[in-house]
Amino acid sequence: MLQVEPRVTQAFVAGRWLDPPRRFRVRSPASGEVLAQVADCGPEEARQAADAAVEAFAAWSRTTAHERAQVLQRWAELMLRDEDSLARLMAQEMGKPIRESRGEVRYAAGFITWSAEEAKRLGGELIPTHASHKRLLVMREPVGPAFGITPWNFPAAMVTRKAAPALAAGCTFVLKPAEQSPLTALHLARLWEEAGGPPGTLQVLPCADPVPVADVLLEDPRIRKLTFTGSTQVGRLLYERAARTLKRVSLELGGHAPFLVFDDADLEAAVREVVACKFRNAGQTCVCTNRVYVQAGIRDAFVERLAAAARALKVGDPLDETTQIGPLVDEQGLRKVRAHVEDALQKGARLVTGGSHRGLFYEPTVLVDVRPGMRILEEETFGPVAPVLTFRTEEDAVRLANDTPYGLAAYFWTRDVGRAFRVAERLQYGIVGVNDGVPSTPHAPFGGVKDSGIGREGGRWGLEEYLEVKFVSVALPA
Ligand code: SIN
Repeated sequence: MLQVEPRVTQAFVAGRWLDPPRRFRVRSPASGEVLAQVADCGPEEARQAADAAVEAFAAWSRTTAHERAQVLQRWAELMLRDEDSLARLMAQEMGKPIRESRGEVRYAAGFITWSAEEAKRLGGELIPTHASHKRLLVMREPVGPAFGITPWNFPAAMVTRKAAPALAAGCTFVLKPAEQSPLTALHLARLWEEAGGPPGTLQVLPCADPVPVADVLLEDPRIRKLTFTGSTQVGRLLYERAARTLKRVSLELGGHAPFLVFDDADLEAAVREVVACKFRNAGQTCVCTNRVYVQAGIRDAFVERLAAAARALKVGDPLDETTQIGPLVDEQGLRKVRAHVEDALQKGARLVTGGSHRGLFYEPTVLVDVRPGMRILEEETFGPVAPVLTFRTEEDAVRLANDTPYGLAAYFWTRDVGRAFRVAERLQYGIVGVNDGVPSTPHAPFGGVKDSGIGREGGRWGLEEYLEVKFVSVALPA
């Protein structure tokens, strides 16, 4: 029997906890049990939220950064106070192993404290004048009410990575959390309320069907910013819709990260980083490597070590402290992983380890003899499968790594400092990990190029996304 956490299941609109007439079920991917019946918002709640976000913006945008920082800091403290229950919620609603979930709570709180501190340092400028009677000022102002759509794979960190800089900058924020993982987001809203966040500043609209809610907020010209993390396909549709009201847009979309292992690598360390990168969250992050390229001479030694490390990972109940790999989030996710592996095997790939599943639990898998034309090399797998390929030269490696429409994250392992700079500079990606399989951190920019998106989250770059520049020219009286 699943041990249940205290759960918030109502929507949070205009500072009130709402019970719309409809509810939808949130299930545990590990056991299939229904965890909660959650408020199912529709256009009516979305309209109320838009009105409240606009009303709250008038006052919140006029508070000082210091005042906002106090509320944000308190929010982060409360998250850390509730670290364990938040982690258990996450583990239950989307299957992230409990230890990794605790790490996510700290990561998520990091976006809040960073934004709170940094917003205090967002000065304007006095630019040199061209006319002696004029003074030219540049001010930074919050963009306006923002609408965020977050994914299930980081139910806390993707919320705070968007909402914290928005709120710190003086924007109000309406959140549509993923339908698989609304419970963590609702708990965060409860903590925002407890921290003293004024009504309407942060609102959460859980819903089973995102389209009617998104339609209202996308069409509303008063909502000035859209931020989304999810697939490239959905990101494109949202971009088109947001264009109609000329909203500012940040899109953190799909990836297909290469991991290059050069033959000067420390093999043990390279395997450790590939494992951390590939099998984090059971392979369900946008920055997990989807293609491991190993220099031809070290392939066999590398594959042997990688397979041994994959076999050693403990798959199981996400609430078990020793679990390293939890379930995939749902049937759709499982179907995709299975389809990629089956397609690769049919086209000549060889299974070194893994390849089977029990329910939604997919074994850590290593494939070799992977070739162009296989789906796994073209689409994001979002599962614990590592296809290993080879390359001959540095030139070859960079060409293969860049041969994709995606450009989110890329990684490589080398001990050669010259190569480290040459390759990092030539990789067409927003994030490059050199000997580092998990580079994400709240104070660094996160985001991609090409089909992987627009804009950056994290650090001061993440704050800029919620700020407008205003030029004020003051002509002095004669
Ligand atoms: C993501 O998968 O979008 C987030 C991964 C990260 O923050 O490292």
